[in-house]
Amino acid sequence: MNSNNVKIAILGYGNVGKAFSKLLIEKENEIFERYNSKVNVVAISTKSKGCLVNENGIDLIGALNDLQTLNHFDESRSDYKEMSSMEVAENIDYDILFELTPLKIFSGQPAIDHISAALKRKRHAISANKGPIAWAFEQLRDLAAENNVLFYYETTVMDGTPVFNLVDETLKFCKVTEIKGILNSTTNFVLEEIAKGKSYAEAIKEGKKRGFVEEEPSMDIEGWDAAAKTAALLNVLMKANITPYDVDRKGIEDITYEQIKEAESRGNVIKLICYGWLKDSKVIARVRPEEIHKNSLLSNINGTTSIVSITTDLMGTVSIVEHEPEIEQTAYGVFSDLIRVLSNKNN
Ligand SMILES: NC(=O)c1ccc[n+]([C@@H]2O[C@H](COP(=O)([O-])OP(=O)(O)OC[C@H]3O[C@@H](n4cnc5c(N)ncnc54)[C@H](OP(=O)(O)O)[C@@H]3O)[C@@H](O)[C@H]2O)c1
Repeated sequence: MNSNNVKIAILGYGNVGKAFSKLLIEKENEIFERYNSKVNVVAISTKSKGCLVNENGIDLIGALNDLQTLNHFDESRSDYKEMSSMEVAENIDYDILFELTPLKIFSGQPAIDHISAALKRKRHAISANKGPIAWAFEQLRDLAAENNVLFYYETTVMDGTPVFNLVDETLKFCKVTEIKGILNSTTNFVLEEIAKGKSYAEAIKEGKKRGFVEEEPSMDIEGWDAAAKTAALLNVLMKANITPYDVDRKGIEDITYEQIKEAESRGNVIKLICYGWLKDSKVIARVRPEEIHKNSLLSNINGTTSIVSITTDLMGTVSIVEHEPEIEQTAYGVFSDLIRVLSNKNN
């Protein structure tokens, strides 16, 4: 990698890709001052809005304007037209690939193939998409090591909040023995609304209106999203080598107003808890609604706020809370991975 001219390719240019671009534009001078590096985006691919390729660097302000005004890239500014994400991953000359396409919760594809293609070409890879970490973490980690390149994925759990970095950089020599968290805001919000007497339909409608409940929320409600996050956390932090199918999963679809009120009468609240622990040296993973005491730390995590508590042998339990994240915090997660690559002395 020529550290003065770092070329990046971005696969997927939705909420995260656009917010990350804005941060790159904002921090361009500061990155140059700190690392003597100019970061040039040489390719951007989407599913339906076209593809831009320019080996001298895409005009990001122009690309963002295109999407706002035309809802499509103006491809007259591109060296190639109609290039698929896989073709970008396999053929374009970039230093770092950014995998920002949507999560395919039951396979992790095609994101796993995109990242594999980059790593095999000895290019660094950064993923905000948790599919590859939930489905193929060890394979990708080993591929990165074999090819002497970096593979980072901070955004995949709790956006820009340092979870993987925290353990990697700060809790050195600590062995993680247990992980517990509340990691899905849709279920957290819906349970709170049901406790107020609203129906599921009303709670979901309200969440959609506020912009954080998906158009099709069943993957959240049934605990699949939480299972993917749990698998990702345990694969990275506890070497679990599991997939979301290995998580003993139960969603919140059967929780009723009456159950929540009964729990309240016992001084408890019901939350969807992600949990992983060691049993006979094997990592066990579970996602299910649990009653927890109203004074506990986890019970006070409301709405879109999330938490993870990491128990270690040397540092006991460390908890980290992300307070009501917006898209800027997601963009920061991707940006922090970029900065980690830029600051790595060995690349
Ligand atoms: N949003 C968040 O706050 C957040 C937080 C943490 C992690 N993430 C993860 O970050 C990733 C991106 O999220 P997002 O919110 O930006 O999603 P999004 O708004 O739906 O954007 C996804 C982008 O990927 C494109 N795309 C879809 N399939 C593709 C393919 N096969 N090849 C190339 N591009 C493809 C889409 O193209 P079109 O524009 O043509 O549809 C769109 O540009 C997801 O994996 C998500 O789980 C998101």
